[in-house]
Amino acid sequence: MLKGRSLIEPEDFSEDELEVIFKLAAEIEEGASFLRESCRGKLLASLFFEPSTRTRLSFEAAMLRLGGGTIGFAEPGSSSAAKGESMADTVRVVSSYADVIVMRSPKEGAALLASRYSQSPVINAGDGGHHHPTQTLTDLGTIKKIRGGFEGLTAGFCGDLKFGRTVHSLTKALTRYTGVRFVFISPGELSVPNYLRDMLNKKNIEYMETDRLEKVIGELDMLYMTRVQRERFLNEEEYLRLKDSYILTLEKLKLAKKEMMVLHPLPRLNEIDIEVDEDPRAVYFKQAAYGMFVRMALLASILGVSGN
Ligand code: CP
Repeated sequence: MLKGRSLIEPEDFSEDELEVIFKLAAEIEEGASFLRESCRGKLLASLFFEPSTRTRLSFEAAMLRLGGGTIGFAEPGSSSAAKGESMADTVRVVSSYADVIVMRSPKEGAALLASRYSQSPVINAGDGGHHHPTQTLTDLGTIKKIRGGFEGLTAGFCGDLKFGRTVHSLTKALTRYTGVRFVFISPGELSVPNYLRDMLNKKNIEYMETDRLEKVIGELDMLYMTRVQRERFLNEEEYLRLKDSYILTLEKLKLAKKEMMVLHPLPRLNEIDIEVDEDPRAVYFKQAAYGMFVRMALLASILGVSGN
C-alpha cells in the first residue's frame, strides 16, 4: 500500500510497488477514465526552492487532471523563506493546508528533513546533487515501455555524473534488477561519487568508467545524457572548461546500436545536438511527456484514491 507514504529516494518503494505505479501510469496514458476526478477536494502543495519546468508543471498538471487543486511557489523569493523562515517551519505550516507536498531544494537531505516535520506525505522533487526519485520513475517507466524490462541492460551515463542527481537515483534504482551493467562516461572531474562505486562493488555489479563516449557507445542499450550542472559548481571557470565535454551528434550515433535509446532528464543545453531529435532513438521528449502520467499514478497511489 502506497497510501500516505513519502517518496524521498527510489528505494523507498519496492520493485513490486513500482510495477503497480507503472501499470497504473500505462492505463492512464491509454485513456482510462476511472481516476478522473478521483482527487477532487485534495490539494497538492509544490514548494520549489530551485527552478523547474518539467517536475513542477507535470506534478501540477497531474493533480489538476485528477480533479484536485494546487497551491505553492515556484521560487523561494516569493515565499517567507525570503524573510528567513526555516524550511521546517514552512513545511509544518503548508502540510496543514495540503494533502501532499512536492518539494525541490538545493540542499541535500532537505526532503527527508521535510518529511519529519510534515503531516502530509512528502515527494522529493530533487534535493541538491542527491536524489530525484520521480525522475527515476519517469526514466524506469520509459525504459520499460520501450524495452519491456531491465534484465541484461547495458546502461550508459554520460556527462556530469558527479552532481547529476538523476544519475545517482537511476543508478541506484537499476542495481535492483538482474544483469544490469553500467558504463559511466565523464571527465575525471565529474565522475560518479565514491558511494555509488562502493555500492556497485558491494553488490558485485559490473561497471566501467571512461572519458571516451565513442569508445563505448556501441555497447550500450541505453545512453543517459546529462547537462553539466552549472549551479553546483563553486568555480565558474571550471564549469566553462567542462560544460561541452560531450556533444551527442548523428555522426556519433552511427556507432551506436540501432535500438539504443537516448534518454535525457532535460533541460538540454549543448550536450545533444538538435539534429539528434529526429532520430527514432531519441526518446527524451517522450520521456518528459510520460513523466506526467507516472506522476498521476504516483499521486493517486499516495493519496489512496487508486484502489491499489
Ligand atoms: N528533469 C527535471 O527535473 O527537469 P526540471 O528541472 O525542469 O524540473
